[in-house]
Parts: sequence; structure tokens; C-alpha cells
Amino acid sequence: MSSSSSAPTTRPDVLVTGGAGYIGSHVCVELFNAGYRPVVVDNFSNSKPEALRRVGEICGEAPVFYELDLNDPKGLTEVFARHSFSAVMHFAGLKAVGESSRIPLTYYRENVGGTLTLCEVMAAHGQSRLIFSSSATVYGDPASVPIDERFPTSATNPYGRSKLMVEDILQDMAAAPAADQVVPWNITLLRYFNPVGAHDSGRIGEDPAGIPNNLLPYVAQVAIGKLPELSVFGDDYDTVDGTGVRDYIHVVDLARGHVAALKGLSTAGAGCRAYNLGTGRGYSVLQMVAAFERASGRKVPYRIAPRRPGDIASCYANADLARRELGWSAEFGLERMMEDAWRWQSGNPNGY
Ligand code: NAD
Ligand code: WQD
Repeated sequence: MSSSSSAPTTRPDVLVTGGAGYIGSHVCVELFNAGYRPVVVDNFSNSKPEALRRVGEICGEAPVFYELDLNDPKGLTEVFARHSFSAVMHFAGLKAVGESSRIPLTYYRENVGGTLTLCEVMAAHGQSRLIFSSSATVYGDPASVPIDERFPTSATNPYGRSKLMVEDILQDMAAAPAADQVVPWNITLLRYFNPVGAHDSGRIGEDPAGIPNNLLPYVAQVAIGKLPELSVFGDDYDTVDGTGVRDYIHVVDLARGHVAALKGLSTAGAGCRAYNLGTGRGYSVLQMVAAFERASGRKVPYRIAPRRPGDIASCYANADLARRELGWSAEFGLERMMEDAWRWQSGNPNGY
């Protein structure tokens, strides 16, 4: 296990698994801003140490980090022996929907197995405060929009099923009789809608390996000329212009939602709760393309392609519960998401 040095500090340490990734790196910045010290565990399977160095550039201090696989209980135990964490934020995992159908076993090992290892090591150290990266994918094909947390959950692919399984496991752990729990679990599930954008410094952002699966990084790479054109997956959905509608949320808003959830753990106490993190607004693919063209001043050529299997027409959040209980709501609008995405893409055409 290689690691960075860790000077003593009076700030509370927060363990951030997958902290070098897209969302985790932005959360590290917001944790520093809020007076915490992020301690990152990452195996860099889908990220680079450079992301953490740049967090350091932004914050004046880089997160402490351990290059470690979550499926290594011995290494994880050493990390818990060195730090007393005030909470754990768990981002590490695999996230490509299409890939999950090709290599489901790997997805279950990483996403479910990794979480089990983490929770076992947490319990062995009397650590019970956990914030888990879930996804709007757990709502499957919702009967209506906006989606609130009481909607039924389902999965249509192994990635989504791995998130659902972890949610169920964490709910079961928190529901066990208090006398049978080492320390009563205090867990928050955050169901993200579609994170986009980047830190306004333009120094950290989304850096997908290979051809992007998600809309925004794809559009950004078309705008910069790395990809010739966007395929718009279907224009015959029952939406404003026939293209798919999603709730895009600025990654910095999302990161701040984690800090709000962290503070909320103290007031909530034992149990397991789920919150949507979205803006409550949906935009279509063509509205996103038009907004990106405005922000970048570049043309984004596209053609209409067949629907992508498994896609749904519309997905956007009712985010009232997070506002009421966590005091959090998204601040940044579409224009800002696009400006920040473009600043990152144009300043880092080849990523980190
Ligand atoms: P990401 O791939 O950029 O970050 C994940 C990080 O985890 C990477 O740095 C990767 O190297 C690390 N990692 C993966 N497996 C690991 C392991 N076994 N041990 C240690 N580190 C490991 O992804 P992201 O977009 O930042 O997503 C973070 C989390 O949020 C994931 O759990 C993802 O499923 C969830 N999520 C993401 C989205 C999205 O659209 N980006 C939406 C909903 C939920
Ligand atoms: C958005 C819209 C596409 C690419 C996925 C996961 C979800 C969550 C977020 C992790 C859809 C359209 C896309 C392209 C297109 N991830 N599109 N051309 O599918 O809403 O959600 O990422 O948890 O679980 O399923 O996001 O960005 O792939 O697609 O037309 O090249 O853009 O059809 O309408 P999605 P996305």
C-alpha cells in the first residue's frame, strides 16, 4: 500500500473511498472548504493521482491518500488503525451500465463485495457513520415524474442491481436489533441524478477513460473536435422534443449535498435514510446540446440514432426531502453547468 504523509491535525478526518474519481475529488474540495480533512482510499482503476494533486492546488493542501483496493481488508484495517474517522463517504465502485451487463461478476465483486469489506472493517473499528453513493437508477423506469424517495425501486441491469443490493444490505444492517449491532449504524443513502460540470477553477473534472458513455462528456468531446458527432439516442420519446429528459446536477452542488448529509448524520442518529440529490428540473438531450453550444461557442454536430436499450423517457427528482431534512438544495443552473464543463474540457483536452 503506498500512501501520502499525514501530519497531525485537529480537523475531523473523513474517509473518502474512490476520492480520486469525478465526484469524490469534488467532494474532497468541499470537505476542505467545510473544515474537514479528507482521507482518500483509491486503487486508481478509473482515476489518476493527479486529481488529488490538483485538489491540493485548489485547497492549499492535498488529501491524505492510500493507494488501496477496497477488497483488501488487511490494507483497509491499517488505514482505520491510523485514523479516527468521524464518518465514511463511499464512492469507490464501477459505474458503466453497458459494461456491467458484459462483466456482471466484476460489478458485484467491486460494488457489493467492496462495500461488505468496508462495512466489516468499519464495524471492527466501532465506526458506524456512512454515506453511500447510490443512484437514481434504483427507481428503474418510474411510473411518473418527479420521483420521490418513496417510489418503488427496481433494477434493469447489473450496475443498477448492485446499487439496489447495497441499499438493501445497508437497510438490513441498520434495522438489526440495537443490541446486536456493535455501534448502531447511522447511514445515509444519496441517490444522485445526473452529475455534470466541473469545479470552477477548471482544474478538476470528469475524465472518462476511452469513449464516454454519458451525454455531457460526449458532447464536450465533440465540441473540442475529439469526436466527430453526437448520436442522439431516440427522438420519439414522449417528451418536450422527443429526446430523453434528465435531471442534470452540477457536481459542486452534489458535493455540497454530501457535506450537508455529513452534518445531518449528527442530528439523524441511528438508522438508514435515502435522499434524492437532483435539481428537480429536467432537460432534454437537444436542450443540453443547445446549452452547450451557447456556453462553448462551438457547434455540436449530431444525428438522430436509435434508442439506447434500457433508456427511459424522463427522469427527474423531487428533491424536497433533502431540502427539508438536510437544508440542502442545488444552486447552479444549466448555464453554469455548461460553462464549467467547457472550461474543464477546453483547458484539459486530454484529461489529467
Ligand atoms: P469514478 O469512476 O470517477 O470514481 C470512482 C473511484 O473509485 C475511481 O477513482 C476509482 O479508481 C475508484 N475505485 C473503483 N473501484 C475501486 C476499488 N475496488 N478500490 C478502491 N477504489 C476503487 O466515478 P464517479 O462518477 O465519481 O462515481 C462515484 C460513485 O457515484 C460511484 O459509486 C458511482 O456508481 C456513483 N454514481 C455516479 C453517477 C455518475 O453519473 N457519475 C451517478 C450516480 C451514482
Ligand atoms: C443521458 C441522456 C441518453 C449519450 C446514466 C446511468 C445512471 C447514472 C447516470 C450512475 C439519455 C442520452 C447519452 C449519448 C445520447 N450513473 N444520450 N447520446 O442514462 O440518464 O444515466 O448515468 O449511477 O445510472 O444509467 O445518463 O448521460 O448516459 O444519458 O443521446 O451519446 O442522454 O439517451 O437520454 P443516463 P447518460
